[in-house]
Formats: sequence, C-alpha cells, structure tokens
Amino acid sequence: MAGLAVNVDHVATLREARKIHYPEPVAAAVFAELAGADGIVVHLREDRRHIQDRDVRILRKIVQTKLILEMASTSEMVGIALDIKPDIVTLVPEKREEVTTEGGLDLVVHKNSVAEAVDSLQNGGIPVSIFIDTDPEQIKLAHQIDAAMVEIHTGTFCDATTSIKREKAFSTIVDAVKLAHKLKLKVNAGHGICYKTIKAFKGLKEIDEFSIGHSIVSRAVLVGMERAVKEMLALIKEL
Ligand code: PXP
Repeated sequence: MAGLAVNVDHVATLREARKIHYPEPVAAAVFAELAGADGIVVHLREDRRHIQDRDVRILRKIVQTKLILEMASTSEMVGIALDIKPDIVTLVPEKREEVTTEGGLDLVVHKNSVAEAVDSLQNGGIPVSIFIDTDPEQIKLAHQIDAAMVEIHTGTFCDATTSIKREKAFSTIVDAVKLAHKLKLKVNAGHGICYKTIKAFKGLKEIDEFSIGHSIVSRAVLVGMERAVKEMLALIKEL
C-alpha cells in the first residue's frame, strides 16, 4: 500500500488569515499522525504566507513519522533545511504571485542550480525529492542529478475539466511513474488530489507515497463543523 504524507499548510493559512495563534498546524500534524499518516509535509514559502519558521522548528521536534519540507532551491532555504534537518526535502518551483505551486521544477532550465542544492542537502544527510512534471526529459534529468526521489505533479490530471483531458493527463502520469521507477528513483505523487481523484491511482503500485493537503484540510473543516457548532451552543446555553 502506498503511504500518505499529509500537508498541513492550509491550517496555517487559516491562522495567518487572522495573524493569531490558532488553528495550530502543529496540532493538526499530531492528529494526522494519530490517524495513521506516514509523514507530515509543510511548505516554507519565501513570503511566509502560511507556514512560519517556528512551525518547522516545532514540527522537527514533535513529528514522529517523517517531516517533509517543501521549499524553493534557494541558498536561504538550503541553509534553513541544513539547520533544521527535515527527514526529506522536496524542491519545488516558487513564484510570489502564484496561489499555489503551479507546476514542476523545470530541470531543463534550472538543472545546475538544482543539482547544487541537491548536492548540498544530500551531503548534509537529507534525501531530496524533486517535484516535476510528467515529461520524461525531466525525470531523466532528476535521475542524472542524483536526486533520491521524485514527486510527480498530478495537478494537470486533477484539475482537468473534460474526460479526454483527464485521461490524457493520467496516461502521462502512468508513463512518468513507470519511467522513474525503472530508473530506481523513489516515486511520490501529489498536487490537487482529492477524495474523488485518488481513486484513479488504483493499481499504480510504483507510487510510494501520496502527498495530499488541501482536500484533507478542507474536509476536516466540514466534518468537524457539527461538533464545533455543538460545543459553542453548549457554552452559550450555560450563559
Ligand atoms: N506536493 C507539492 C509539491 C505541493 O507543492 C503541494 C501543495 O503545497 C502538494 C503536494 C499538496 O497539494 P494539495 O494541497 O493540492 O493536496
């Protein structure tokens, strides 16, 4: 069975919307682990729009499964990772103006700088995963620069608006996963996966782990709503 790494960024998004001290992403990580998650993922963005440095430091102390740090391949982030030492780093492209990560790292363009970051991190004892699109060229480059693993971008498939586009996007995921596996890269997959799209991955045994965030946090908000309202009503009743 493939593993599940739960991304808790959007618990921090809710907190940062008010710039207060709750909800606590670290608490969400503990609950996710208690529910059986195989890892906790956070993306420390350059603009610190959701996860803060202190979140990563506390998570490093309390996560019992594995802590996966998503980050841009900048010298600032490499320095932070080497200091905090997450169990895995996933290198992602990052643009300040984007709402979320929009695609894989382009290794054709950024091969040398990414290779340098991979080298520094892996020499520092942190295995590196590269978030890439399904293009075979990108996968071969990830292999060439000696990354320990890749995370295949599933967003194009998950966001597809027609069945033709969906099927086409999924077949590129299958090819990418199989190629990465053949090259002996550990293969993860993520972005945009929800309770419906996950079903498409049945039988694709080469995937080691799914990285899922937004849909899980969104569902937690709804499945927890009834209890949250009842608890507030009980307090009001006692007034
Ligand atoms: N994988 C990577 C590399 C990501 O950047 C993200 C989003 O932070 C995810 C997985 C999780 O995506 P989602 O929140 O859509 O499940």
